[in-house]
Order: sequence, then C-alpha cells, then structure tokens
Amino acid sequence: LTSDNRPDVVWLHNAECTGCSESILRTVEPYIDALILDYISLNYHETIMAAAGHAAEKALWDTVANGNYVAVIEGGVPTAAAGTANEPGAHGKVGGHTMLENTTKVVEKANATITYGTCASYGGVQKAAPNPTETKGVWELYPGKPIVNVPGCPPNPFSLVGTIVHYVTKGVPPLDDVGRPVLFYGETVHDHCPRQEFFDMDEFAPSFGSEEARKGWCLRKLGCRGPETFNNCPTVKFNQYNWPVQAGHPCIGCSQPDFWDGADWDGEK
Ligand code: SF4
Ligand code: SF4
Ligand code: F3S
Repeated sequence: LTSDNRPDVVWLHNAECTGCSESILRTVEPYIDALILDYISLNYHETIMAAAGHAAEKALWDTVANGNYVAVIEGGVPTAAAGTANEPGAHGKVGGHTMLENTTKVVEKANATITYGTCASYGGVQKAAPNPTETKGVWELYPGKPIVNVPGCPPNPFSLVGTIVHYVTKGVPPLDDVGRPVLFYGETVHDHCPRQEFFDMDEFAPSFGSEEARKGWCLRKLGCRGPETFNNCPTVKFNQYNWPVQAGHPCIGCSQPDFWDGADWDGEK
C-alpha cells in the first residue's frame, strides 16, 4: 500500500457532529499521519486539510473529474426542500452547493463509497424524529451504488482502516444484509461481552453505578442492546482501552440501522 499508487480519497462532511473524524484521527495501525500520507492520498477533508476556499473546492472537484477515487462520507444528507427557491436539501450547504448535490456528484463517479458513521450509513441521530430536514442515509439515497457501510456513533477507526485496506488489496469485503463488512460487524456486542456470564446466570445490575454494576453484572435490565447490535467494540475497544459496557454504560445499538429512534429497549431479557 505504501506506494505511488495510493488511492485518491475524498471525504465529505454532511449533517454530522464530526465525531467520526475525531475517531479516525485516533487510528494507531497505522497512525493518522501515515494513513493519509503513505497509504491513501486524502485529497479533500474539510476538517484537517490545509487548503481553504476555492483551493479546497478545486482539490475536490479535480479529483472527481479524474474519476478514479474512493469516497468516504461522514454525516446524513438533508433532502427537504426549503428557502425562497424551495431548493431540495437547502438545510445543508458547503461551498454554495447543497450537501445533497455534492454527495450525488461524488457518489455518482466514485469507484466505491464508504459511509463512515451511522449518520452517513443510515441517517442516525440526524434522522431522528421529527427530522424536519428530512435527512437520509447515503445507503438509502443511492441504491445500486457500490457502497460499504461502516456504522457506529462513532465507529472504531480499526473498521474503516481495515475496510480501506481490504478494498485496495482484495476488493470490496463481504457485506451483511445492511451493507456492513462481516469482518467487523459479523458478531454481536453480546457475543464477546465480559458481562455475559452474569447474563447467563440472570444476574442483572439494578442501577447505574451500583455495586453489582461495578462487579461486572449484566446491564440488560438497564437497557443494553448488545444482543441485537452487531459491532466489534468488546474485542477492538476504543483507544485500545475501553468501550461503553466495560465503562458501565449499556450498549445503545449505535451501529444498527434503526439507531437513534429504535434505540429504546424495554429491559426484557
Ligand atoms: Fe457524530 Fe455519531 Fe454522526 Fe459520527 S455517526 S458524525 S459520531 S453523530
Ligand atoms: Fe449482553 Fe449487554 Fe449484558 Fe453485555 S451487558 S452481557 S452485551 S446484555
Ligand atoms: Fe455503539 Fe454499542 Fe459499541 S453503543 S460503541 S455498538 S457498545
């Protein structure tokens, strides 16, 4: 991968919180500097690129015009018509154009598109009811396009780097029925949770911060969605150190297509 043949990558920011960009900055294998200088050619990323204004826009559209690139999309796409011109997608603009218009042009010509984060994959928090901007996930907006979903809020950077490496060396990785690489989303959070022995013994922590919770009892009755959620958090961890359930918080299903509105859980086993 470390060669002159690094793939061109453009990274769009749509309706999001930039937490997904924050997560990729914390990649360690490789570190972010090696990733964007040695492994890929990151031609456009609004948060970290040195260029601004017209020079930044030129870097994006020159890459798209060349037509040999991978797109990474962060954030959902507002689609509602608004404003005096009743313009579709008018709630979100970059460089004078709607996110909807920019994303359509970029996804249209990309060799492959990777949605990074649940906002981009399925709409996520940005799509939560009542969703006045009518934000949608990229996967829903462009059916039939070569799109790989790497969801999570945020996802683990390991999953994005692994997806890029797989794409460059072997092509698109095998995907599940909601477009996620099975390599990283093939098992549930529950499958590798260290609290599972307590789940099996019906030992459930009665409250947050309780002695039982600190002792490692299961958080299912506190709303844990781990058995329904496919992600690699217990094995990969964040910052190689911790993850929500280890820290005492239930999994809220952030990598699932129904996140955020479907995140409620009645606490039944
Ligand atoms: Fe932020 Fe979560 Fe959306 Fe990523 S998926 S941009 S972390 S709200
Ligand atoms: Fe499963 Fe959640 Fe209990 Fe862990 S805390 S064992 S993921 S239900
Ligand atoms: Fe998300 Fe659950 Fe992991 S909330 S970060 S999938 S533990």
